[in-house]
Amino acid sequence: MERQFISHLAHRDHPIAAPVSGAQVTRLLRRARLPEGARILDLGCGEASWTLRALALYEDATADGVDISADALNTAEGHAEIQGVWERIRLHKRSAEDFPVAERYDLVVCVGATHAFGGLRPTVERVRRYLRPNGLALIGEGFWEREPTPEALTRLGTEPSEYLDLAGTVAVAESAGFDTVYAYTSDLSEWDDYEWSWTGTLLRWANENPGPDAETARAAALEHRAMWLHGYRGILGFVTLLLQRRG
Ligand SMILES: C[S@@+](CC[C@H](N)C(=O)[O-])C[C@H]1O[C@@H](n2cnc3c(N)ncnc32)[C@H](O)[C@@H]1O
Repeated sequence: MERQFISHLAHRDHPIAAPVSGAQVTRLLRRARLPEGARILDLGCGEASWTLRALALYEDATADGVDISADALNTAEGHAEIQGVWERIRLHKRSAEDFPVAERYDLVVCVGATHAFGGLRPTVERVRRYLRPNGLALIGEGFWEREPTPEALTRLGTEPSEYLDLAGTVAVAESAGFDTVYAYTSDLSEWDDYEWSWTGTLLRWANENPGPDAETARAAALEHRAMWLHGYRGILGFVTLLLQRRG
């Protein structure tokens, strides 16, 4: 069972693949106050939840979504059809790193996907190149809410340098030539909703679909839950920065 398919199943009841509620997604997108006929680029779009919401809010906007997961993009395509916006979104199955800098966008979204570029710093540097002067970016990234415990680091399989604190995260984003014009810091209940959905949906799927894949799904859910409950709960934060390109 492919890792991408596990992730696809796990996000069935929480289509935004980040600890951000639907209400906050809408709030952030409204705050962007996009111009008429806005062009949107979503890097690591997954099921394109952010962009489909943006297309609902901005009725003459059009978008490109980029992801490597065929399952996620198929779901995005289906949702775009149901929402009646399939003509306003183009989905690209390719690595975000290879997506050409061929035009300038009004909004670039990269939420929970900075690993596609090797971290926050290379992501913001790259995102800047896609933006018009004064264009906006929504960058969603983890940060250390508290100093990580050795157990959290072991369970996450990561180093303290993987993330910064909140101030450091903002500083890195701004160092690439941005101003933070708004931001939303997820609260613990959003993390809990995200993680209980991730692990619970997978466990339920395993129970209702017996067979070899069920064991893989169950093991993935339990491993993830232990990593969260014994590891990063209350330690790893998540912030979505609304950045404006300076100049
Ligand atoms: C945590 S999900 C976030 C999805 C979406 N931005 C959201 O918030 O709902 C990370 C996404 O990045 C995608 N991804 C990982 N590496 C990538 C790459 N090199 N290029 C494009 N997408 C990538 C994954 O397939 C996954 O859909």
